[in-house]
This record gives sequence, C-alpha cells and structure tokens, in this order.
Amino acid sequence: MALLAGTALGLLVTGTAAAGHLFPDCEKGPLANNTVCDMTASVSDRAKALVAAFTTEEKFQLVVSTSPGVPRLGLPSYEWWQEALHGVASSPGVLFAPSGDYSYATSFPQPILMGAAFDDGLIEAVATVISTEARAFNNANRSGLDYWTPNINPYRDPRWGRGQETPGEDSFHIKSYVKALIKGLQGDDPDYIKVVATCKHFAGYDIEDWNGNERYEFDAIINPQELSEYYMQPFKACARDAKVASIMCSYNALNGVPTCASSYILQDILRDHWNWTDDGFYVVSDCDAIQNVYMPHNHSPTREGAAADSLVAGTDLDCGTYYQLHLPGAYEQGLFDDAVIDQALVRIYSAQIRLGMFDPTSSSAYRSLAFANVNTPESQDLALKAAEEGIVLIKNDGILPLQIPSNGSITLAVIGPWANATAAQMQGNYAGIAPFIHNPLYAASQLVNVNVRYAGAPGDPTTGGYPAALSAANASDIVIYVDGSNSGESDDRNLIRWSGERQDIMTQIAGLGKPFILLQMGDQLDDAPFLNHENVSAILWAGFPGQAGGDAIFNIITGKTAPAGRLPVTQYPADYVNQVPMTDMGLRPNETSGNPGRTYKWFNDATVPFGYGLHYTDFSVSVDAGDESSWDIADLLSGCDAEYKDLCAFQSVTVNVENTGDVASDFVTLGFVAGKHGPEPHPIKQLVAYERLFDVTPGSTASAQLNLTLGSLGRHDEAGNLVLYAGEYNLLVDVPTSSVWNFTLSGDDTVLEEWPQDPGTP
Ligand SMILES: *[C@@H]1O[C@H](CO)[C@@H](O)[C@H](O)[C@H]1NC(C)=O
Ligand SMILES: *[C@@H]1O[C@H](CO)[C@@H](O)[C@H](O)[C@H]1NC(C)=O
Ligand SMILES: *[C@@H]1O[C@H](CO)[C@@H](O)[C@H](O)[C@H]1NC(C)=O
Ligand SMILES: *[C@@H]1O[C@H](CO)[C@@H](O)[C@H](O)[C@H]1NC(C)=O
Ligand SMILES: *[C@@H]1O[C@H](CO)[C@@H](O)[C@H](O)[C@H]1NC(C)=O
Ligand SMILES: *[C@@H]1O[C@H](CO)[C@@H](O)[C@H](O)[C@H]1NC(C)=O
Ligand SMILES: *[C@@H]1O[C@H](CO)[C@@H](O)[C@H](O)[C@H]1NC(C)=O
Ligand SMILES: *[C@@H]1O[C@H](CO)[C@@H](O)[C@H](O)[C@H]1NC(C)=O
Ligand SMILES: *[C@@H]1O[C@H](CO)[C@@H](O)[C@H](O)[C@H]1NC(C)=O
Ligand SMILES: *[C@@H]1O[C@H](CO)[C@@H](O)[C@H](O)[C@H]1NC(C)=O
Repeated sequence: MALLAGTALGLLVTGTAAAGHLFPDCEKGPLANNTVCDMTASVSDRAKALVAAFTTEEKFQLVVSTSPGVPRLGLPSYEWWQEALHGVASSPGVLFAPSGDYSYATSFPQPILMGAAFDDGLIEAVATVISTEARAFNNANRSGLDYWTPNINPYRDPRWGRGQETPGEDSFHIKSYVKALIKGLQGDDPDYIKVVATCKHFAGYDIEDWNGNERYEFDAIINPQELSEYYMQPFKACARDAKVASIMCSYNALNGVPTCASSYILQDILRDHWNWTDDGFYVVSDCDAIQNVYMPHNHSPTREGAAADSLVAGTDLDCGTYYQLHLPGAYEQGLFDDAVIDQALVRIYSAQIRLGMFDPTSSSAYRSLAFANVNTPESQDLALKAAEEGIVLIKNDGILPLQIPSNGSITLAVIGPWANATAAQMQGNYAGIAPFIHNPLYAASQLVNVNVRYAGAPGDPTTGGYPAALSAANASDIVIYVDGSNSGESDDRNLIRWSGERQDIMTQIAGLGKPFILLQMGDQLDDAPFLNHENVSAILWAGFPGQAGGDAIFNIITGKTAPAGRLPVTQYPADYVNQVPMTDMGLRPNETSGNPGRTYKWFNDATVPFGYGLHYTDFSVSVDAGDESSWDIADLLSGCDAEYKDLCAFQSVTVNVENTGDVASDFVTLGFVAGKHGPEPHPIKQLVAYERLFDVTPGSTASAQLNLTLGSLGRHDEAGNLVLYAGEYNLLVDVPTSSVWNFTLSGDDTVLEEWPQDPGTP
C-alpha cells in the first residue's frame, strides 16, 4: 500500500498508487477480507458489510460530494461531482491535463441541438462515446465515475437560462431521448455500470433568477394533473424504465416542500410508485440545496433539522458540506436513527460496487479504456454528424443549398457577432475542453472556390464596426449573417426578441440586394421580423453546435448534407414574455390569470411551431394503418401483460415517406395523437412517436414505424391519473400535418396508472 496525496480537506488518504486510480485496494488493503471485496456476494450484502465497518462519526463525513474516505480502511477520498452534459466536462471531479494526453475530450452539440435531430440512435451513440471517454479519464485517475448529467426538466418557458441543456419542451420526446442517453452512459454490461448517470433536477425546476425570484427559494406551485403528465414524465422514464442509477433533487420547493426534503416525491413517487429500489440507486442534492431547506426555504426550524429532514426524506448524498456539519448534531438530538444513515450509505456504496470500484481483480472491459479511446476519428465524425442532424432550416427561398461554381469562385461575407464564435458560444453550458473549435468563420475559410470576407460584430469598433460589416457585405456575392442569443445558469432571459439595433443593422445589410442568409445560433429568438422579409433569403438555426459546429453548418449550407432537423421547442412571439410570468407553472391557458398556455400543446400562436423544419427536397407522407379502425378498451387491456399498462403495445403504424424532389435527404417522421376523447373540451395534440429516416433518395419511398402504446392514447385527469378514454382519435403525422389516421375506442374509460396523491396538498 502506498500513500497518496492529501485532499483539499487536508486528510491523509490511502489507496493503490500503482493502478493510478481512486479505487480501494481490495487485494491487499485493509478491506481485502471485508465482504465488500467479495465479488461472489450480492451488491447489497457487500455494501452492508462496508457500512458496518464505519464508525458513527465516519458515516456523517462520507455522505457529501467531496468525500474524505476512511484512511484506516484504505477507502480513498472520492469526488462524486463529475459533469458530462455533451462531453466529459470541466467540473470538480474532472481533471483535464494542461497539455497533451487528457487535455481535451470530444465536445458534442448542446442537447437542445441534439434534441432537434429526433434520432435516439444518435443519442445512444453520443452517450456511448462520452462514457467511454469518462472511463478513460477515470482509468488515468482524472475523474470519478459519478456523472451529474442529464438535465431533463422540460423546457417549459423560453426564458429559462438552462433550457439549452435539455432536449426541448416535449415530455414524450425527452423520455425517448433520455432512455437512449442513459443506455449509452450506463452501458449494457449486466455486471457493471459504465458510469453513473444522474437525472436532474427533480422536480419542477426551471427558474434561475427571474424578476427577483431565485432558484434557491422558488416554490413551484403545480397541480397534480400537470405534475404527473408533464413535469414528472422524464423522471419516470429515467427511474422506472431506464433504471438510472442516480437522481438529483432540486433547489426549488414543490407545492410548499423543498424537493430534497420531500418524502412525497423521493419516497412515494420515485421509490414506491416507480419501483426505483434496486441496489445502487441514490439521490444526490443539488449543490447546497440542503442548506436551502433551512434558508431561504425556512422549511426546517434548525440547521440540524434541515439536514435530518433531507436524509429522512431520502436524499442520500449532499453536494456541499451541510451533512458533514449538521448530521452529527441532528443525530445527537435524536432526529434520525442509525438505520437512516446506514440506508443512505448502502445506497451510495452499492453504486460504487456496481461501478466495479470494490473488485479485487476487475473483469470489467472498461478498465482497459485509455487516451487512445478519446476523440477518435469516429468520435470526431459523430460530433459533426450530431450537429448536422440537428440543424433546422426555418426559411429558404431557394438560395440554399448554395451553388459554388467548380470552375470559378464566389465571395461570401461571413459577418455578424457570432461569425467568429467563441468556444463558449459554440459549446454552451457545461462544456469541457474541446480538441478544437471549428466556428462558422473557420469552416467558411476551408471551402474551395469561396473567398470569405469577414467583419466582426457590427457594434464592435475593434473590427471596424458597422461600416466594415456593410462594406464586407456590399463587396460579396452572398451574405451569411451570424448572430444568436445566449443565456446560462443563474441567468434567465427577459427578452426573446432580436433587439431594434440588431434588426436595423440586419435589414440594412439585407437591403444591399445580396442574398442574405441568417444563421441563427444559441437559443430561439422571435424571427417574425425576418420570416416574411423579402430581403432575407434563408434562416438556419444551429444552436450551440460543439467542436465541429462550423463544419456542420457549412456542410448544410453548401448541400453536402441535407437539413432535416426539427425545432424541439416552440419559437414564441416576442410579446410572450409580457403575457405570463415565469413563476406561473401552469401549462393550460387560464383566463383568470391571463396565462396564454405553454408549449405547442397549449399555446397556439407560435412564430415557428415545435416540430417545424424544411428540407432541400419534397416529401409525400401517408399513413398506412390497415383496415381496423375501432377497438374495445377492455380487449386492449386483456391482451396486455406488460408490467406497466402505459407500456402495453397498441398498434405499430406504418408511415410511408416518398422523396418526390431531387435531393437525397433524411426525414423525421413525427406522430401526434389528438381527437375528441376525455373530459377536456379541446384535447390537445401530443407527440407520441417519432422515427428519423436516413438518406431517402429521390424517387424512393422509405417507411417509418410509429409504435403506439396504450400510454400514447392516455390522458391525465385532474388528479394526475393516466386514463384511457373511449372516443375519437386522430393520429396526425408531420408538422404541419400532412396525413391523418382516424380511429375510435369504445367501452369503459379505464385508469392505466393511478397517481400517488400528495399528502401535503390541502
Ligand atoms: C489521483 O487524483 C487525485 C485528484 O486529482 C490526486 O489527488 C491523487 O494524487 C491522484 N493519485 C494518483 C495515484 O495519481
Ligand atoms: C485476510 O485474510 C487472510 C487469511 O485469513 C490473511 O492471510 C490476510 O492477512 C488478511 N488480509 C488482511 C488485509 O487482513
Ligand atoms: C418492483 O420491485 C420489486 C423489488 O425490486 C420487484 O420484485 C417487482 O417485480 C417490481 N415490480 C415491477 C412492476 O417491476
Ligand atoms: C463555369 O461553368 C459554367 C457551366 O459549365 C459556365 O456557364 C461558366 O461560364 C463557367 N465560368 C467560367 C468562369 O469559366
Ligand atoms: C476570431 O477570434 C479569435 C479569438 O477568439 C481571434 O484570435 C481571431 O483573431 C479572430 N479572427 C478574426 C479573423 O478576427
Ligand atoms: C456598394 O457597392 C456599390 C458598387 O461598388 C457602390 O456603388 C455602393 O455605393 C455600395 N453601397 C454601400 C452601401 O456601400
Ligand atoms: C429590400 O431591399 C431593397 C433594395 O435592394 C429595398 O428597395 C427594399 O425596400 C427592401 N425591402 C424591405 C422590406 O426592406
Ligand atoms: C387560473 O388562474 C387563477 C389566478 O391566478 C388561479 O387562481 C387558478 O387556480 C388558475 N386555474 C388553474 C386551473 O390553474
Ligand atoms: C418499432 O417496432 C419495430 C418492430 O417491433 C421495431 O423494429 C422498431 O425498432 C420500433 N421502433 C422504435 C422507434 O422503437
Ligand atoms: C378524421 O377526423 C377528423 C375529425 O376529428 C375529420 O375532420 C377528418 O376529415 C377525418 N379524416 C379522415 C381521413 O377520415
């Protein structure tokens, strides 16, 4: 056994230096004869044996994000906090080297752009690369194995500063996306979790700092119907269906109770209703959220009370130091007993056991991953492909794809504030260090037979300002104007419009009479001023596209790749921000409050709707559903033996997609269910299935299978129960709808899933 360096806490830490990792030495260390190192024992017995070896004082030190370990047991210090939202990311537990090996990791697009691809296979492939790179970093002692990603709160309000971290606004889409993501992150080895994924922030979290409402004190008031049908859906997919190893409770309170101290959501819903009880499932708090249970939420009367309330409710690990500081006092006051702290420890160490951290001789194939597996040519191609698949063509008068002469040249003005985008603009929140950043200006300059004229931001005098941009544009054949909107953590937006100055500059440049292409990056802004503007030829949205983003953008612009992304969010009119406060969590229109409704399901005046996206070719879409068009509800249920009724198969509907134009292109098939069924006067249209078809060549027809379940047809009643209603149903395909299939269900309305009621709700 060798001695390793001390941690930030100044404690002496021991472990196996030879292996160069942070695992305890299960061969020769003090734990070698403890059952925790016995690979033939069950995970739960192993974890219990380890926990039994701790003293009471040690236990309280171990349930925090920067764990000191237990030197006398050879249990090394461990940093539980790693991030990898779209690539292994800078975070307390990730140590990038200053140069050379491990100085970078592949940087994929931000989830909001990958969501626009509507391609779950892509998401699983991306997550597989991320977990492979994470394992390589871990094997080099440059990271732990617990990753606090993904962020799956539905993007409910366009102002949210962290909406870019999510796949978008639709709860079905997020569910489908996150199941693929977790499969890629946690891997498919039955004996080992590749890395722990963490679905966050549970639940009702999506305000950073809006109009004096800070996330640390916000109390989200959500009725049971919308809680069950929308806010909870992604977490249900994570916990119940994808068996994610970890869930993070959030800063906010939910209907009066801070989520990290809520036994209603952590026990009744998460663990009991969703059956999330296997060994190695743990709840971690957002950072210092347990302190927030005391202040500013004032939920618990004392600091000790806040720590105890959180632990008892089921928050096993504290990101922060509150548990370390206040659990000992709470224990002395008798606010919880040994069984509670032991349960938390068993949960967190079961996860480490499932990661293979307590194996005397590891048989895990993940232990051989090394820097040669980081940013491979295949991973670089995947980062490019992910950006290409997501980019959305919003407007095109025929200028795109650009015709570049093979025997001459054209001059492109590549101008605007984001033309020479920074790494932060290309990558967005929760980024790592990318091996390279190819921004739009870089990628344009790589084109053959193209001269590029650049002028920086029109408002930036160091690059010549407005006059330089105008003259660069005037001296070019075509103008590509690159601008965008960025927000971030702790930073909600107040405005979702292009400012007057920016509109003025853009329309003046567009008025020069050159074809003008608006390349819109970052979050959505209301494009109404440009959508019908005669001098704006095309609008392309490219989000935060990652390391190869510029290359992807110009592959689309030049037609090397055909665009097929679809907006994963509603593009709202600018005035939306005046119509509803961010603090109003209601989704349905409400005449009393003036809330116009949220997301494509309940808001009807989008500037550009959810699911929209143009192509370089034409498609003809038709549903081929067979002859049957009426079903009895009792028959449907009796034919199903799935564990959870919402997952019972209904029909797999074939959608034929013919490319009637002359450019090969992907096509995203989107299927929505609407129709007159259930108690609501205007049953909303809801996304229930999607499939991306690849490379449909001109003249050919490809088929998508929309696999509908009983859950696809269900609606949530006011108590939050999922109910299958008799009535009329329409399957609507594409945005705007281009093919419809009608069918009916008869018989008695039947509850598919009963929602646990909040005992605290009056
Ligand atoms: C492993 O990494 C930790 C944290 O960066 C460091 O303190 C420790 O010295 C490293 N140990 C070895 C054996 O490299
Ligand atoms: C484990 O047990 C074996 C056999 O009883 C013994 O030889 C060995 O010293 C023990 N190892 C430790 C670390 O206690
Ligand atoms: C719920 O979990 C328990 C214990 O792990 C298991 O026995 C049971 O089959 C699970 N139920 C479902 C519906 O998966
Ligand atoms: C380039 O080729 C096109 C089509 O073949 C032709 O019309 C055009 O005149 C050529 N231009 C030059 C500069 O040779
Ligand atoms: C683009 O920005 C980088 C800094 O991010 C700067 O070094 C470079 O000179 C800029 N390129 C041009 C053409 O101005
Ligand atoms: C654009 O260029 C043309 C031709 O060189 C010139 O006549 C015109 O004044 C220029 N316009 C602007 C706004 O620079
Ligand atoms: C478009 O540009 C032309 C000049 O090329 C100008 O005459 C016209 O007014 C512009 N249109 C709009 C709507 O600004
Ligand atoms: C509609 O808004 C009013 C006023 O804010 C509120 O009291 C009421 O609960 C809301 N109705 C629903 C169904 O949310
Ligand atoms: C739909 O079901 C078919 C047949 O069972 C299967 O091959 C396909 O992968 C499913 N598609 C999706 C998107 O789940
Ligand atoms: C489907 O039903 C809607 C009304 O719900 C009706 O307007 C439409 O014509 C029907 N379409 C077909 C193809 O029957």
